[in-house]
Amino acid sequence: MASESILTGHQKIERNVSLLLVFSLLVVTVGGLVEIAPLFWLQNTIETVKGMRPYTPLELAGRNIYIREGCYLCHSQMIRPFRDEVQRYGHYSLAAESMYDHPFQWGSKRTGPDLARVGARYSNEWHVQHLTDPRSVVPESVMPPYGFLAQNDLDANDIALHLKANEDVGVPYTDDDVKNALADLKAQADPNADTTDLLKRYPKAVTGDFDGNPERLTEMDALIAYLQMLGTLVDFSTYQPTQDDR
Ligand code: HEC
Repeated sequence: MASESILTGHQKIERNVSLLLVFSLLVVTVGGLVEIAPLFWLQNTIETVKGMRPYTPLELAGRNIYIREGCYLCHSQMIRPFRDEVQRYGHYSLAAESMYDHPFQWGSKRTGPDLARVGARYSNEWHVQHLTDPRSVVPESVMPPYGFLAQNDLDANDIALHLKANEDVGVPYTDDDVKNALADLKAQADPNADTTDLLKRYPKAVTGDFDGNPERLTEMDALIAYLQMLGTLVDFSTYQPTQDDR
């Protein structure tokens, strides 16, 4: 009978270790592909959420400093959908909120609090004070000081290339965004600049001086611009989860 011959065939595989290995790998490969491959093409893998936009050039520069300084080693940026986290930090993080992150900053270590929604929670002055001397505002803090960022001029001449690199991996920066990257970067941190174009390209961008020294454009400006934007793009008073999201 046919089923018997299948079983005898299968016995051969079971008794030959190399053959068993080859076929096991084949099964795992096919199974893996079936599960994983569709995610690369399905449009609804990441739902689009109103308000999400790519980083402004200044925020992107700040994000690079955040990564350079290893802030992610102590801070996560992913609020999980548990009551204690939602009550402490705000609405749980949506996949769409890190869709333009390369690499994402979810993190796995919380020596300090999650920063996914730290934007607009404190004033710029608070951030300067806290980054310069954390223990002057939070006496029990174990966070290291980063005051030197206010002494470092922001090296931004290659910012257009950073936008371009992000564009290459799928962030929807336009040619216009790339062309105006340096001008946008400077305008965002200059209290006297005309920011109409910047805000058209990047709605909700926080503008003005960040580090308390409008004369200079420092790494502190960029880092605080990035922190002040975190978690502020999606308006959760009107946000409706889709069916998949619940
Ligand atoms: C050694 C671990 C460590 C590192 C590295 C670190 N932090 Fe912190 N951070 C903490 C701790 C602990 C706290 C909580 C106490 C406090 O507010 O200082 C904190 C608090 C904060 C807060 C306030 C959050 C809130 O909701 O009150 C911000 C903002 C922050 N850190 C930003 C940064 C940035 C930006 C960097 C990188 C330049 C950084 N941290 C690096 C440990 C760290």
